[in-house]
Formats: sequence, structure tokens, C-alpha cells
Amino acid sequence: MYKKNLGSKGPSVSAMGLGCMSMSEFYGKGDDAESRRVILKALEMGITMLDTADQYGSGHNEELIGDTLREWKEEVFVATKSGIVRRPGEYKRTINNRPEYIREALEKSLKRLRRDHVDLYYIHRRDHSTPLEDAIGELSKLVEQGKIRYIGLSEVSAETILKADTIHHVTAVQSEYSLFTRGVEESVLDAVKKIDAGFVPYSPLGRGFLTGKLSKEIIKSEGDLRQFMPRTSGANYETNNRLVKQLEEFAAELNATPAQVALAWVMSRGENIVPIPGTRREKYLLENIAAADVTLDKRSREYLETVFYPGAVKGERYSEEGMVGVEE
Ligand SMILES: NC(=O)c1ccc[n+]([C@@H]2O[C@H](COP(=O)([O-])OP(=O)(O)OC[C@H]3O[C@@H](n4cnc5c(N)ncnc54)[C@H](OP(=O)(O)O)[C@@H]3O)[C@@H](O)[C@H]2O)c1
Repeated sequence: MYKKNLGSKGPSVSAMGLGCMSMSEFYGKGDDAESRRVILKALEMGITMLDTADQYGSGHNEELIGDTLREWKEEVFVATKSGIVRRPGEYKRTINNRPEYIREALEKSLKRLRRDHVDLYYIHRRDHSTPLEDAIGELSKLVEQGKIRYIGLSEVSAETILKADTIHHVTAVQSEYSLFTRGVEESVLDAVKKIDAGFVPYSPLGRGFLTGKLSKEIIKSEGDLRQFMPRTSGANYETNNRLVKQLEEFAAELNATPAQVALAWVMSRGENIVPIPGTRREKYLLENIAAADVTLDKRSREYLETVFYPGAVKGERYSEEGMVGVEE
């Protein structure tokens, strides 16, 4: 796996990371033993960045990573987040960026991760009741104290990115970005470039839809949040699946899978772009890693961008509850 920098002077990480969220929550039940195998296989295959958050499975995800990494002796770039507050098992959330909250959340994450520092620490959502100066100021102190190496922001506007960077350099911005979700092209990606940071697209496979394998049966299964997400439920499923069918046909012409084409497209969007596809299966992991070797020529990219023009996908990307704290 080749490497990319999160910003021209930023840390070097594998060109694709591994999103670990679904190993603990949101897309049905995970299997810890299989998840451990997936994490270790990813590292063996040259992936160096793991993505998690304190709220995934109410700490389960960080514990799983912390425990699994005891078997791995080399450096791993671990990114985690705080700021979304939920009761265990509930999707309803509030946002908290108060300095004392951030500090306490980080201490808990470090314990679960069994580390003395986090490489990249994101504010998961911005809380407008806390001045940005206070939140970033606290992160800056945590950098000075060696508890975090780099600062990140998730689902924030261009304005927040530019302002935050005047307080302390922001190394990475993480937001949803895929053929399905292109909102960041309006101003966020430019702001990220302007501050010379990395951009980390989450849900680069459209929460699995862009793989062509997200059946209605999977979505309906217990604990799968996608049954409540506007794009993957009701009549929107059928409409959006027509776009996926076009992707499947196009991928077959390229001798690749739809997942690989979707990932290759997002990876082609900039030198500073490092997606974090999520999977709980080794088979999918290997398929996704191979996407790093798929090159899309200009005509292919233009074709994909025409099929998935901004607005082609029907339905909001989150339910109303999921939009809490998302800046647009
Ligand atoms: N900052 C934020 O607010 C935020 C929000 C959401 C996610 N994230 C991060 O982004 C990561 C990735 O996002 P995501 O998991 O929501 O979406 P995703 O990466 O777009 O898609 C994951 C889904 O696709 C399936 N999949 C993966 N590779 C596949 C393949 N080759 N063929 C068929 N199916 C495949 C997975 O199935 P299996 O699970 O069955 O393998 C899973 O259901 C998360 O793990 C998390 O770390 C961050």
C-alpha cells in the first residue's frame, strides 16, 4: 500500500485507512474474533491508520482495537474522536466540546486503547455552545502535553475549518464523501487545501450501497441503522439502486468491482485524500485494498461524475437525529 501525507507537511499514512465502526455498532452485530482478524490483516497488508471513536459501541470499538494491537508490535496511527454524547444503545445524541469534557473523554479513550497518546484526535461534531477557541485551545494543550499528536475535525463547515486553523493547525478533516455524497466539493475540500491538511472521507462506499451487495435483507436485519436512513430505505432504495447498477456495469468493463471503482474514484480526488472504508470481513478488506491499484482515466472519472452528479442520489444522508451537529 502506498502512502500519502495528511497535508504536504503532515504525517504519512497508508493511502487508505480502515474504518472500524461497524465492528461494534450500526450495521448489525459484529463478531469480535473476525474483527480482530480483519484489523491484523489490514496492518499486515500495509494499512497504517485505524479509525474509531469513543461512542462506537459505547467504548467497545476502542477496547477492541486496544486489545487487538497488543498482538502487533509495529507503529499504528490510531485516530479517534469525541464530542458526540449518546446513552448506550440510543441513537439520540447531544454534542459536547467543553474543554473539561474533551480532556476527560480523551483520558477514557487512552485507557480503552491501552496507549499513552492518540495520533489523531478529532472533534466528532462541533458544539456551538462552546467557543471554538476553547475547544481547539484544549486540544492544543493536549498536543503540548503529548497526549495527542494531531488535531482533526469532523463534519464541519469551511468557515469552521479556516477559523480553527488560526488557533492551532488542523491536520485532518473527516466528513462523508463518496460518489453518493459530494457536498464537500462545494467549499470544504478547498478549505482543507487552503490550510494544507488531509481530508479523510468516511463512508466512502456509501455505507455499503456502492458495493452492489447491500440487499434489502441486510438492511432489514436487527441493529442495522440503514433501515432508518433515508437513502437506503423506502422508495429511495430502488431509485438509488439504479445508480448502483450503472456503477456495477461500468466496473465490470474495467475488470474491477463496484467497491473498487468507488474507492479508486474517491482516492483520485486529491493527493491529500485518504478514505477509511469500513468492513468486518477479510474478503472485503482484501478487495478494498486492491482498489489502491485501480487507476481511473479522465474519461472514466467523467463518466462516474456524470452518473453520480450532485443531487442524483435521492434522500438525505442521515435521519434528522443523525444530522445533529453536522455543519452544512
Ligand atoms: N466521522 C463520522 O461522523 C463518521 C461517520 C460514519 C463513519 N465514520 C468512519 O468511517 C468508516 C467507514 O464508514 P462506514 O462503515 O459507515 O461506510 P462504508 O465504508 O462506506 O461502508 C461500509 C459497509 O460496506 C460494506 N463493505 C465494505 N467493503 C465491501 C466490499 N468490498 N464489498 C461489499 N461490501 C463491503 C461493509 O460490510 P461489512 O461490515 O459486512 O463488512 C459495511 O456494511 C467507519 O468505520 C468509521 O470509522 C465516521
